[in-house]
Amino acid sequence: MQLSKLLNIAIPMIQAPMAGVQNWRLAAAASNAGILGSIPCGMLSKAQVIEEIENFKAHASGPYNLNFFCHEMPELDPYQQDKWKQKLSAYYDEFNVEPNENLGVLRRPFDMEMAEAIAPYKPSVISFHFGLPDAALVEFVKSWGAKILSSATTLEEGIWLAENGADIVIAQGIEAGGHRATFTETKLESQLHTRQLVTILADALSVPVIAAGGIASHHDVIMMHELGACGTQIGTCFLLCDEADTSQVHRNALKSLAEPSAVTNVFSGRPARGIENRLMIDLSFINSEVPAFPYASAALAPLRATAEEQGKGDFSPLWSGVNRQGCKEVSIQEVVENLWTDKLINT
Ligand SMILES: Cc1cc2nc3c(=O)[nH]c(=O)nc-3n(C[C@H](O)[C@H](O)[C@H](O)COP(=O)(O)O)c2cc1C
Repeated sequence: MQLSKLLNIAIPMIQAPMAGVQNWRLAAAASNAGILGSIPCGMLSKAQVIEEIENFKAHASGPYNLNFFCHEMPELDPYQQDKWKQKLSAYYDEFNVEPNENLGVLRRPFDMEMAEAIAPYKPSVISFHFGLPDAALVEFVKSWGAKILSSATTLEEGIWLAENGADIVIAQGIEAGGHRATFTETKLESQLHTRQLVTILADALSVPVIAAGGIASHHDVIMMHELGACGTQIGTCFLLCDEADTSQVHRNALKSLAEPSAVTNVFSGRPARGIENRLMIDLSFINSEVPAFPYASAALAPLRATAEEQGKGDFSPLWSGVNRQGCKEVSIQEVVENLWTDKLINT
């Protein structure tokens, strides 16, 4: 079945959920542009998620995707935290800041309380990152008719997702910005490019496959469909859009194509792709002393805030895919038109 029909959208394209850089405003504008708008909920309380839904519905009439994380939440390890703060101590001295005592807003996994809070709205699409929640939650979400989406970074993950309740599998290639959706033991080095992953997943799975990672032009979109994807999920291209809340240091980094992107675990404890910056380089990108996800970010918060005040993105997660060519400072509608119909954007 066509993705547009399955998700009730005009164009078979999804605005990727992007926690920390967007809210209902981008999702509603995406929806009004004919694609599926996504609201990232992984860092929000129940009340905040409800507020997001209400705001979306006040500004758009199409369906929307609520996106949640579903990682195992480890116990906080105070020893690990102390070691992490010691590792950052030279930066605290340099920027004259104190390490913070509290953990701030943590990325939390989807649970029954959240499911019950959103159920009255019957959102028609729920997407998960890092696998799927337990079977009872999957069943509950499906009970109101929602379609479940989740990302795979390997063939094995795609098969597991399809067998465990995903109605649609997103093939997240190694080019993708933000966190790797990986939820099995796999080596980063062996993860595939989007076009390869789409090809093998479309061939192996009986559920529809959506392509994600590095898609930045009409040509890329067409190629993904030719390889067997029934749609695309696009993030990086929308980061400079008027309706996104991307910070100024992040916008500056996206616009300067000088720095490459790389996969790092230093910002959260899990591998994610962002534009190379000082912290990533100093800590060698993947560092075994970083606290377990999601506990790494708290100790970085004061450094990030102070550096950003000085116009520096040295401690900020500048999430981005490998391909920033499609980033434009225009409305999301214009970017979507460019991707879908190949109109030229005059900027
Ligand atoms: C800034 C940023 C934040 C992201 N945050 C999330 C998130 O909260 N949830 C999620 O499922 N995916 C997240 N992703 C990953 C996207 O879903 C998607 O895999 C990726 O954007 C596709 O690659 P592209 O950025 O090259 O288009 C994020 C990506 C970016 C760039």
